[in-house]
Amino acid sequence: MTISGNARIAGVMGWPVAHSRSPRLHNFWLDQYGINGAYVPFPVEPSGLEAALRALPNLGIGGVNVTVPHKEQAYRIVDETDDTAARIGAVNTITVTDDGNLTATNTDAFGFMEALRARAPDWSPASGAAVILGAGGASRAILVALQNLGVSEIRVVNRTLERAQALADELGAPLVAIPWADRETALGDAGLLINSTTLGMQGQPSLDLLLDDLPRTAVVNDIVYAPLFTKLLEAAEARGNAIVDGLEMLLHQARPGFHAWYGREPEVTDALRGFVGEDLL
Ligand code: ATR
Repeated sequence: MTISGNARIAGVMGWPVAHSRSPRLHNFWLDQYGINGAYVPFPVEPSGLEAALRALPNLGIGGVNVTVPHKEQAYRIVDETDDTAARIGAVNTITVTDDGNLTATNTDAFGFMEALRARAPDWSPASGAAVILGAGGASRAILVALQNLGVSEIRVVNRTLERAQALADELGAPLVAIPWADRETALGDAGLLINSTTLGMQGQPSLDLLLDDLPRTAVVNDIVYAPLFTKLLEAAEARGNAIVDGLEMLLHQARPGFHAWYGREPEVTDALRGFVGEDLL
């Protein structure tokens, strides 16, 4: 990697940040394209986020990703956001403009859409209802993506029904809140099933869900990526459903930031998947 005096610098702010895969991801692309630049981790405490972000223009840093727990706070700090970020109420990609302002977007919705496009090209918004398990921050970004795509029925299934209902009330049609107990019957005419809960993740309880009622034409997307091949994906693939894993969304959500900071549209390839998911594959 070449890093000279005019290298372009970007990075990721998180607390903690050590677990972030973004440095590995972006530096792979920087190497691949021979770009004079670097992407570094910034461990930033929540109480220091505003000062850290405001320092970016002074440091000549092109921009940053923000990850847990900063996405909502960063949304309130930045100078401008787009409509998608406003509807999600959180940002993950911030760019310093030529006049020193902070402009931000949320690329999780984009990452979700592009992962589907790449791995399940036969899926379309007209394939049937979308059923999403979970109503946290990840769910919110995916729900906005599904609305942007024009899916005509979106079922939000959550253990805490009030949380799903609050999302449905806020984001509006065509979202419907469904109790956790009805998660299997909700699969009836689905074209897409997404797990956005932490269930099935290493160290978390498993996801208790029988797929018997799910049409075999439906696509199953698990945003959990550790393990990569979750029990849900295993069961879905065994009965003939197309599957999309969580690593794919992680890789695609990084594309807009890389393009904004380093001036090149990067590609998601098998080599990148292998490198970033080395310990998962
Ligand atoms: P994120 O912002 O990453 O989406 P989150 O806000 O902590 O994370 O959301 C985690 C999701 O997993 C929630 O939908 C949560 O359900 P609740 O809203 O009822 O908390 C869901 N979840 C976590 N543990 C669960 C469990 N044991 N059973 C069912 N759902 C669970």
